[in-house]
Amino acid sequence: MSEQPADGSTGEIPFGLLWGIKRSFIAYVRRMPDGQGSIHDGAVPLGDDTLLFPADDATASAAAAPDVDHVWAFRGDIRFKGHGGMLFVRVAAPLITVRGEEADLSIEDPYARADAARVPLVTLRLQPGPAPEGAQVWLGSDVRLTEAGSVLFNDVYQPGEPFEQLSVVLPLRG
Ligand code: HEM
Repeated sequence: MSEQPADGSTGEIPFGLLWGIKRSFIAYVRRMPDGQGSIHDGAVPLGDDTLLFPADDATASAAAAPDVDHVWAFRGDIRFKGHGGMLFVRVAAPLITVRGEEADLSIEDPYARADAARVPLVTLRLQPGPAPEGAQVWLGSDVRLTEAGSVLFNDVYQPGEPFEQLSVVLPLRG
């Protein structure tokens, strides 16, 4: 009998950030006659609503400041386009900075300008969740848009707008 799962995958845990960003926004882009979504840099769609941003070992770093508990970096670059080019939203290279039970998620400069600062997109609460052997799982709730994030969405969403809950799955490290 084969030890491979029935779907033919290797059965490895997909380490990374699992997030649907904002379902109603994605539905809005899908409704647009010229709406487009594209996925780059290793991100993987899981079902209709969720994206996997793979954990980025190269840039995951230890705490950057005394009050920071963890910094988790992810790869992946998601772009939404529409309205004849007037709408462009890029969510790339998410980075989660954890301080106790609070965290923020920042993204690369949406216009990919060299040396531009990262943009804080959402804040969230993080709690540990049930994890398979060899992994740690964190559940992000109360995910809310920041002021800078509001600008990215053309101020249609106000700061504090709820975004989708997320999960982070990482290797268990000593
Ligand atoms: C030609 C320019 C635009 C037009 C005509 C337009 C039109 C609309 C309309 C009619 C809605 C509400 C109806 C619906 O949900 O389908 C909407 C919602 C929205 N628009 Fe635009 N829009 C434009 C540009 C933009 C731009 C540049 C952004 C920047 C990201 C943007 C972001 C949004 C967002 C976030 C929503 C709310 C989606 C939701 O969560 O329901 N729009 N827009």
